[in-house]
Amino acid sequence: MDAMVEALRQQLDALLPGLAVEAVPEIDSTNTELMRRARAGRLGPVLLVAERQTAGRGRLGRQWLGEPGSSLTFSLGLPLAPPDWSGLSLAVGVAVAEALHPAVQLKWPNDLWVQDRKLGGILIETAAPPEGGPSRFTIVGIGLNLAPRDAQGYATPPFGLRELLPHAVAGTVLQQVAAPVLQAMLGFEQFGFAPFQARFQARDALAGRAVRLSDGTNGSAHGVDGQGALLVHTAAGMKAVATAEVSVRPA
Ligand code: BTN
Repeated sequence: MDAMVEALRQQLDALLPGLAVEAVPEIDSTNTELMRRARAGRLGPVLLVAERQTAGRGRLGRQWLGEPGSSLTFSLGLPLAPPDWSGLSLAVGVAVAEALHPAVQLKWPNDLWVQDRKLGGILIETAAPPEGGPSRFTIVGIGLNLAPRDAQGYATPPFGLRELLPHAVAGTVLQQVAAPVLQAMLGFEQFGFAPFQARFQARDALAGRAVRLSDGTNGSAHGVDGQGALLVHTAAGMKAVATAEVSVRPA
C-alpha cells in the first residue's frame, strides 16, 4: 500500500503539484471525510482512498456498499472554479470509462455500466470555501465493483470489473484511473464539457434506446447536448433533460 501511495503521489504531483495522497483501512465515507475537512478549512488538493467504508453514500441518499478487496472506493478533492458546472460528472465518467476498458459504458448521468449492469458510480459534492471566492472545493467520489456481487435488491444488477479484467485489484485500478480523473477535472475547469461531449457519446449506454424519466415521461435517448443534458425525444418533441433519473424501458 505504501509503495502504491508513493507511486500515485508522484504520478498526480506531475499534474497538480502538492496534491496529497492518503490511504486508510477504514472510514465512514471518503466523500464525507473530505467534506468535513473542507468545512474545517482544509482545502488542499487530496486523494483519499479507503479499503472499507462503513457509511458509503451513493446519489439520492442511497447507500454505497462495498467489501474490502471487492471494491475500490476513493474521493479526489480540490478547489475548482469552472465558468459552468454542467457536465462535470459526465466528464469524470468519460475519464474513468476510457481508463478502464473499451466495454465500459456510461449511463447518464453518473453511472458506469457494462452489459447493462452497474460497474460503478460517481458522487460529486461541493463546498464553498469559508473565505468565499469563485472556487468551490469539489469532491469527486468514485466507487467501482471489482468482484461481482449478489444482484438481489438492486434495480440494476452489479457488474464486477474482474469479469472483464480478472486480475484487477484496488491499488492497480486506482493507479489506472486517478490521473485521468484528475486530468478530466482540470480540463473541465478550463474548457468545460465541450471536449468530453463526443467521448461521452462514444460510450453512451442509452443511445437510441427507449427510456422513462422519473416524472413518468417516455421517450428515446439521443445523446447529450453541449452542457451534458440528455436529449430525449418524447411525444412533445425533443427535450434536453438536465436533472432527472432515467431508466431503460424493456424493448
Ligand atoms: C452512485 O452510484 O449513486 C454513486 C456512488 C458513489 C460511491 C463512492 S465510493 C467513494 C465515495 N465515498 C462515498 O461515500 N461515496 C463515493
